[in-house]
Amino acid sequence: TLSPIDKAKFVAAKRAVDYVEDGMKVGLGTGSTAAWMVKCLGEMVRNDGLKITGVATSTRTAELARQVGVPIVTLDEAKWLDLTIDGTDEYDHNLNLIKGGGAALLMEKIVATASDQMIVIADLSKQVETLGAFPLPVEVIPFGWQTTKALIEETLVNLDVLGRTASLRMNGASPCITDEGNYILDLHLRRIGNPRQLSLVMNQIPGVVENGLFIDICDVVVIGNGDGSVEVRD
Ligand code: A5P
Repeated sequence: TLSPIDKAKFVAAKRAVDYVEDGMKVGLGTGSTAAWMVKCLGEMVRNDGLKITGVATSTRTAELARQVGVPIVTLDEAKWLDLTIDGTDEYDHNLNLIKGGGAALLMEKIVATASDQMIVIADLSKQVETLGAFPLPVEVIPFGWQTTKALIEETLVNLDVLGRTASLRMNGASPCITDEGNYILDLHLRRIGNPRQLSLVMNQIPGVVENGLFIDICDVVVIGNGDGSVEVRD
């Protein structure tokens, strides 16, 4: 039997795969919630003969998809996707998101943007009034990362945020390296007053590859609860 939090993630994933139809090209998200969705799809492929093509948003997800029997192609082979299903770290009432707690934000954003529809699966703990309690992940090029970090912190002074410090994400004693070979800076902002502006400004800083704000990308949030009930916001 599942813990309430796993149950919440599972029922959200189970509901989200209802959107998947035969022949679809599907973006597969990263994280513990998305992993349930990949397992559900694997079962549908193996047991119900569902025919889909998956595009993974991380090497971790690609590996899981292979294990459970979901066929994987590259995004360039697929070209466009019908649907992406992914988890999130935060979502607000406009369905804007903070993602990247699992360090996969770059591929996640590329894949979600290449999809007709993005469905996010979550539990209520991810819901916020204002984005920013979860530190905003920003993927940066390793070259000159300390200079980039200083520039980011300086830039934050002119933006509608409460906190202004950035920290290099570590993996034990060394920097966390993304699938694309970059570093992650976590921005401790506490409250992001204008997420659209922040996202645009961050991506103009040299050395920044992408940030974890997903603005106007998500179409539907499927929220699972520990009692097995599900709520859909769109
Ligand atoms: C990965 O980079 C993230 O965007 C994940 O989608 C996010 O961290 C959610 O993960 P969980 O489902 O494990 O909370």
